[in-house]
Amino acid sequence: MNKNIIPHNYQVTKTDRNKLNKHNSFLIWFTGLSGSGKSTLANALEDRLNKEGIHTYTLDGDNIRKGINKDLTFSPEDRTENIRRIAEIANLFVDAGVVVLAAFVSPYKKDRKGIEDIVGKDNFVEIFVNTSLEECEKRDVKGLYKKARKGEIKDFTGINAPYEPPVNPEIEVITDNQSIEESVNYIYERINDKLKKN
Ligand code: ADX
Repeated sequence: MNKNIIPHNYQVTKTDRNKLNKHNSFLIWFTGLSGSGKSTLANALEDRLNKEGIHTYTLDGDNIRKGINKDLTFSPEDRTENIRRIAEIANLFVDAGVVVLAAFVSPYKKDRKGIEDIVGKDNFVEIFVNTSLEECEKRDVKGLYKKARKGEIKDFTGINAPYEPPVNPEIEVITDNQSIEESVNYIYERINDKLKKN
C-alpha cells in the first residue's frame, strides 16, 4: 500500500452490520467449467437465502465482465486480474454485511488461493461445481464449446485452456446426475451454521 494512504478507523464494523442483519456475512465461491451450472446454482441458492431473510448479492460474468472488468480478456494474466478484482469487490460486500455468491470459472488454483487471502479463510467457502467436460459440452447452453472445437475461440477452458480442479474443496457438487434442488439443499445444509450470528 502507498505509505501515504492511511486507513480511517470507522466506528461501525462488520460485526455491527452482521448484528443488525441478524446473520453473518461471507463469500460463497462457485468454481467449475463453463456451463457446469455455477450461475444456476448461485441463483437458486440466493433465492433460498433471500426467502430466509438473508441479505445477498450475486457476482457473475454478466455483471462483472461487462462492467468493471470489461478491459480484461481470457489470457492467464487477465483471468488472474479478473479474479483478484472480484475478490476485492466481494470483500467490500462481505464487510458491508452481505452474503456474496460468486460464480466464475476461476480455473487456476493460485487465483482461488488469492481469493482466500483477500477475504480471509473464515469468510470464504469454496464450492466445486464438478460437472464433467462431456456433460458441459453436451449442454453447451451458450454454443461456446462448439465454437471452441472449431477453433473459433483460442483459450477456451476445458478445450484449449486448463482447468485446475480444487483438491480439497469445502463443498463439492457433482451435477451430472443431481437436480438443482438436490444440489442447493446440500449446499444450504453445509453453510447454514455459518450464517448464524455469534
Ligand atoms: S475466468 O476464467 O476469468 O474465471 P469468467 O468466469 O469470468 O472466467 O468467464 C467465463 C465465461 O465467459 C464462460 O462461462 C463463458 O460464457 C465465457 N467465455 C468466453 N470466452 C471464454 C474462454 N476463452 N474461456 C472460458 N470462458 C469463456
